[in-house]
Amino acid sequence: MADGRILLVKSGGEAAMPEWRAAFAAAAPHLDVRWWDDPAVDPADVAYVMVWEPEPGRLATYPNLRLICSPGAGVDSITADPSLPRHLPILRMGGAEPAQRMGEYVALAALALLRGLKRIVDAQAARRWDYFDAPRTAPQTRAGIMGLGNLGLRSAEMLRDIGFVTAGWSATPKRIAGVESFAGSGALDAFLARTDILVCLLPDTEQTRGMLNGRLFATLPPGAAVVNAARGKLLVLPDLVAALDSGHLSGAVLDVFDPEPLPPDHPVWAHPRIIVTPHLASLASRPARARFVAQAIAAFERGEPLPTLYDTTRGY
Ligand code: NDP
Ligand code: OXD
Repeated sequence: MADGRILLVKSGGEAAMPEWRAAFAAAAPHLDVRWWDDPAVDPADVAYVMVWEPEPGRLATYPNLRLICSPGAGVDSITADPSLPRHLPILRMGGAEPAQRMGEYVALAALALLRGLKRIVDAQAARRWDYFDAPRTAPQTRAGIMGLGNLGLRSAEMLRDIGFVTAGWSATPKRIAGVESFAGSGALDAFLARTDILVCLLPDTEQTRGMLNGRLFATLPPGAAVVNAARGKLLVLPDLVAALDSGHLSGAVLDVFDPEPLPPDHPVWAHPRIIVTPHLASLASRPARARFVAQAIAAFERGEPLPTLYDTTRGY
């Protein structure tokens, strides 16, 4: 089929292709879905790609490429390509399923920090009966989410519904029932000063990289805790460890690292107050992602605006 209907897919490896083909056959039967390295594909026939980490230079080899689709919400691994054809639109993953999954992870992390889960699990591993009381309840704890986009909004709603006194910080102000909104760099310190559990769900941009640093941690109240489910590059890990070791911060849950995977000999694996998870906070199922991409391609072909387009000016 050489009529501009080819969607090249690189997500989950070649072994994932039967599942992708089945999911796209249901959601967009007119697309010819091919594996990224299929030797039978003529580059001139490729109209769409769905790719997480393209080899640098690869996207520039498709002269008729119309839309780049990311199977994830963050597109930093695509925009890092120096020869990325900058005029092409990039679709970021969105939709309800990844937001729900992230909300569940954030709720799990916040409750783990609230109830001292790391201490409980470590005591079990040592067969030690280590009884202790949680110092406070969710309604006595202020949660703060940095980033109130698709993932941060749902996470804020779920923390609010558990009972946490919830606020969010974003570039532009938001109106979310029961969630206090702080916006812009001028409001950051006030947001941090009222936050006991800080959750980062910001994108990786020039403005956000390295933002979770010693200065930011010092602005949090004593005993605060941190969850980073955004990107490893946003966190200055030695500053976090120093703030935990000094006793200023009480705990952290980290899902993302720079680089990934976190090397086996890295000291944070063994830190008594850090829970490490391997970048699993939120990945929607393949059928949900295929539906999202198929609907976006259909909208694109009808000339309609796309729901979650990467904005080169904002950097997310
Ligand atoms: P969105 O683009 O929908 O939301 C981004 C949010 O960050 C918006 O609220 C935006 O503000 C805010 N923001 C961006 N820059 C700034 C800034 N400089 N100052 C203040 N606020 C800012 O993204 P998603 O919610 O879909 O995803 C967020 C990130 O989560 C992704 O970029 C990715 O890095 C990470 N992620 C991690 C996953 C995991 O499994 N660990 C899975 C998926 C994503 P405004 O609303 O005003 O524009
Ligand atoms: C994403 C991710 O950006 O998985 O979707 O981190």
